[in-house]
Formats: sequence, structure tokens, C-alpha cells
Amino acid sequence: MTVRIAPSLLAADFTRLGQEVEAVAAAGADWLHLDIMDGHFVPNISFGPAVVKALRPLTKIPFDVHLMIAPADPYLEAFAAAGADLISLHPEAGPHIHRSLQTIRALGCKAGVVLNPGTPVAAVENLLDLADLVLVMTVNPGFGGQSFLESQLPKIAALRRMITQSGREIALQVDGGITAATAPRCIAAGADVLVAGTAVFGAADYAAAIAALRGGGGG
Ligand code: DX5
Ligand code: ZN
Repeated sequence: MTVRIAPSLLAADFTRLGQEVEAVAAAGADWLHLDIMDGHFVPNISFGPAVVKALRPLTKIPFDVHLMIAPADPYLEAFAAAGADLISLHPEAGPHIHRSLQTIRALGCKAGVVLNPGTPVAAVENLLDLADLVLVMTVNPGFGGQSFLESQLPKIAALRRMITQSGREIALQVDGGITAATAPRCIAAGADVLVAGTAVFGAADYAAAIAALRGGGGG
């Protein structure tokens, strides 16, 4: 299984966002993970579509936009127009996740469903035909630098089984507390896209940090 690494810009130096994007792309990042927070759905505020749009011309790697906003529906078009390749959202962020996923695909983006630590696997069961990605939160959303929740490992494994059974091409992403120590456990459970903020942007050598997460640099 090919493992992709998606550094989360939330942990980057915000005074040098452009250079940070270029640096992680040059260091081998597969995707750039962009955490959008509204101070309402989660207790933190990050940045919006204008920042995504400003960064878009700096690299060709896919922009993986993780929406932690409610409602999300009124902003889907803005993030698609800003250059998102993939837009993920939480079922709790609106009344009709199925419709939101249809909208994301109609806007020409890939669509993802995000499961909070307390959200059961069953929440995606009837969405697999509309999902290009399922994201398992391995922390409660809102902040970088939190500790990995071991309790989510069986959920990752259950989703891997569900995806395999479906015969569909759906990426299985993990986000929160991913380090060179927790990454192999997520990969063993079936994750194939790893989001990492602190473990990449907090490292002195981004390329070595990305390689370590991938399993190529120890860990
Ligand atoms: C948390 C965000 C994460 C966060 C991860 O709400 O969704 O993407 O940036 O940060 P680390 O890797 O530091 O746990
Ligand atoms: Zn995220």
C-alpha cells in the first residue's frame, strides 16, 4: 500500500506561509492539508478561502481542505474556487452530509467524510459511493499538537475492512497526533494518508520528517 503524507499547514510559521508551503512540497509532501476552523464547530479559528487561494499558485501538490466549520455548505463553492482538490467535512457540520458530498463532487473536487473520535464507523456506511476519502480523527479537532488517541485504531481497521469490501477506491486518512511512533500503527491498521502538523513543521528537517512518517526513515 502506498502511503501518502499530508503536512498540516496549521503547524507552519504563519509569518512565512508561502515559503513553508514551498518547503514541504520540496521535501516530498504528497498533499498539503489545510485546516479550516470557525471558532464555532471547533474552539479555534484558523484561516479561510482567501489564504487557500493565495497559496494555490505556489505548488502543484493537491490541496486537501479539512473543513471544521458549521454550516459548511455555504462555503463549499468558495473553497473549490480557491483551488481545493479535495474537500472533507464532518457529518455533524450540517443536516445533509449526503447532499454536501454531492455538491463537492459537482464543484469538481474530491469529497471526504471526517469521523470525530466519538463518531461511529456507521456514519459513513451509506456514503461510500460519494466519498473519495474517509478521515479518522485521532484527536478531537481544533488544535495541533494533541496526543494520539489509541482508541481510534480499531476504527481505522474497521473502515479498512469496509472500504475493501466495497471494492471502491477510497483513501483512508488519519489526522491528529501522528508522529514517527504512531504512524506505523495507523498504517498497520489500514490508513494510507497521514496528516501531520507538528511532526513535520516542528522538525528541523522536513524531508527527514516526511520520510520517517512514510516508514522510510525509521520510526
Ligand atoms: C486538528 C487538525 C489537524 C492538526 C494536526 O483539528 O485537523 O490537522 O493540524 O496537528 P498535529 O499533527 O500536530 O496533531
Ligand atoms: Zn485536519
